[in-house]
Amino acid sequence: MTDLARIGPPAVRLAPPALPPLIDPRIERVIHATPDRLHALVAQYGSPLNIVWPHTVAGNIERMRRAFAAHAVAHEIFYGAKVNKSRALVRAAVEAGVGVDVSSLAEFEDALAAGAGPARICATGPAKTAAFLRRLATAGALIAVDSLEELDDLGTCLDAGEPARVLLRYRPDSAGRSRFGMSREGMVQALRRLGQDRPSFVFEGFHLHLSGYGIESRVAAMEEVSDLVDTAAGLGLSARLVDIGGGMPIRYVDPDAYATVLGSQRPEHYQNGRVPADFYPYGSALTAADWLDGFLQAPCRGGTIAGYLRAAGLRLAIEPGRSLVDQAAISVFRVTRTKPLGAGRAVIFVEGSSFSACETWFASEFLVDPILLPAAARQLAQGGMRAFIAGHSCLDGDIVTHRLLEFGTAPRPGDLLIYANTAGYQMDLLENEFHRHPMPVRLVAEPSSEAEFIVAQDM
Ligand SMILES: Cc1ncc(COP(=O)(O)O)c(C=O)c1O
Repeated sequence: MTDLARIGPPAVRLAPPALPPLIDPRIERVIHATPDRLHALVAQYGSPLNIVWPHTVAGNIERMRRAFAAHAVAHEIFYGAKVNKSRALVRAAVEAGVGVDVSSLAEFEDALAAGAGPARICATGPAKTAAFLRRLATAGALIAVDSLEELDDLGTCLDAGEPARVLLRYRPDSAGRSRFGMSREGMVQALRRLGQDRPSFVFEGFHLHLSGYGIESRVAAMEEVSDLVDTAAGLGLSARLVDIGGGMPIRYVDPDAYATVLGSQRPEHYQNGRVPADFYPYGSALTAADWLDGFLQAPCRGGTIAGYLRAAGLRLAIEPGRSLVDQAAISVFRVTRTKPLGAGRAVIFVEGSSFSACETWFASEFLVDPILLPAAARQLAQGGMRAFIAGHSCLDGDIVTHRLLEFGTAPRPGDLLIYANTAGYQMDLLENEFHRHPMPVRLVAEPSSEAEFIVAQDM
């Protein structure tokens, strides 16, 4: 949190339970120094407008590298390209020296176009097509094989010549009935096949990815994988890499403020009278670097995970998506109108939809308050407003936030609401052209001076 500033624009008060965003200081400066610029950009490109800030990616990578270095653990970082469709963000990750985790041919081609060497690309996901598998194998990319069936399919895709480089995806005990990866028995069968078919495959190690953001489940999985490393060795197969996937947390809001809000939430804080059952840990006590540090010093085989990896000569790979794009985008919505609904609450209609800020589609909420940027020409009204935010569609469920927000100054048509830190699965995961509204534009911004930034279309 050290280099992040907590902000709220002048004349706007988001009363309790407020969750002001933590914002990269350079982005915060330019937003506040040049509000007219944002209004002009929305006038030019439409609303919602997604603006990505690739300069943030290198810092996120650097903080993770320092955590690895502190434990002298050889490592590999693959940027989880699924987190955002922006090509500029893939380029920023590659330029900062990391590899790319891809789950489709399009992501693979983007990674190559960004300059990633094929050997630094790792393909994950359980449903790789034959064309994708063939392209990966021919290019010499690393392939995380999800199942025995996928291993068979890969075998049939291979041209005579170069063998395919494979990791085997393990389904740890804690993953329960997950559809991803192979059970212990499946792994042993897969290892046997790899041992028998050496000309076709090069076995490089193990892969996993777990839902959630806890360290404990990954620590338990690591102990299980260490047994598989021994099993592989017994079959003459030497692992060089263990890839634990993504899931390193990021911090959107101050942890104390977040704890306060979680502890005080009541149904009446939501327009639909329902507190969602769970949320992303928006006020994570740990940064991604803290998380890695905690993982590496957790117990494994009588020592620490770091010690085990060093002694076994293994590299640890991670595939962070969300945590590499921490602070890497903002999403700007223009207010169309507000409508009082009685009982002291109102709805703010914005040009946009919850497909652009999609947590409500997962029965959850983006628990980060938007920043109100009033239109320059208007007088700030004295009266406040308690309101939720909805998009322009006819769907009852198309709600940007069910949570009632307390505005010290009531938003007016033409004002902007800025959601900070939306690069991680928020801004473009579900975007579509419902009602034939055009797809939101994505701009790439680079701070050019203390108070200025330059933009280009994200290609
Ligand atoms: C295999 C795999 N790796 C990496 C990630 C990235 O996870 P995160 O964005 O939480 O870091 C995902 C996300 O679903 C995934 O499925």
